[in-house]
Amino acid sequence: MIFSDNDTQKLLEIIKARRDVRGNRFISTKVEDEKLELILEAGISAPSVGYSQPWKFVVIKDENIKENILKNFENENNKAKEIFKDKEIYTKLKLEGIKEAPINIAVLYEPQGKHVLGMTSMKKMGEYSVVCAIQNMWLMSRALNIGLGWVSILDEQKVLKELKADENSQLIAYLCLGYVDKFYQESELKTLGWKEEKKLKEVVEYL
Ligand SMILES: Cc1cc2nc3c(=O)[nH]c(=O)nc-3n(C[C@H](O)[C@H](O)[C@H](O)COP(=O)(O)O)c2cc1C
Repeated sequence: MIFSDNDTQKLLEIIKARRDVRGNRFISTKVEDEKLELILEAGISAPSVGYSQPWKFVVIKDENIKENILKNFENENNKAKEIFKDKEIYTKLKLEGIKEAPINIAVLYEPQGKHVLGMTSMKKMGEYSVVCAIQNMWLMSRALNIGLGWVSILDEQKVLKELKADENSQLIAYLCLGYVDKFYQESELKTLGWKEEKKLKEVVEYL
């Protein structure tokens, strides 16, 4: 398949318009099953080391589970507040949308338990493959005008226990998904002055 300049431009627009979405932006509108399926389909279309497809997606709508994950977040975020106590702005940041988002998705890495092509030297490639799936989901969500937020301020083992996950599984991402009232034009952390944007020339080296 050959893509046109318009397609290329559109892809870049989607990449640049993707945002991390947090609780203050989610609205309660239901996410249609067929759209959720498209997002998951984008996930499983990602590249993976040795075609191992080492991912599992746990779709969570159960309010009790969400409540417990939120408590987990609050506990961990209290520790983070202590770490960032000299940065007053940290306490004001909304860093999750667990309850506000109608759907949560835990994305797990399931180690293969045997040798994987491409993982014989660099051992983290399985986890990185799952991250590729997550980015695909993030972009597909944005293309559907659905917001997605990644929450990582969590006690991983407690999340896995809550989800009754296989004992070898690892939590790669806890995602919050739903329609939004708006998408910000740039990273909220940039707008709020937490971090500056790095320019291309700062991060690219030509040898
Ligand atoms: C691996 C990873 C973990 C993240 N964890 C969190 C998190 O716990 N809470 C949060 O509010 N945002 C989290 N984010 C979102 C980032 O803060 C966000 O991507 C970044 O500020 C850039 O903003 P943008 O995604 O809107 O462009 C995470 C993003 C990544 C890639």
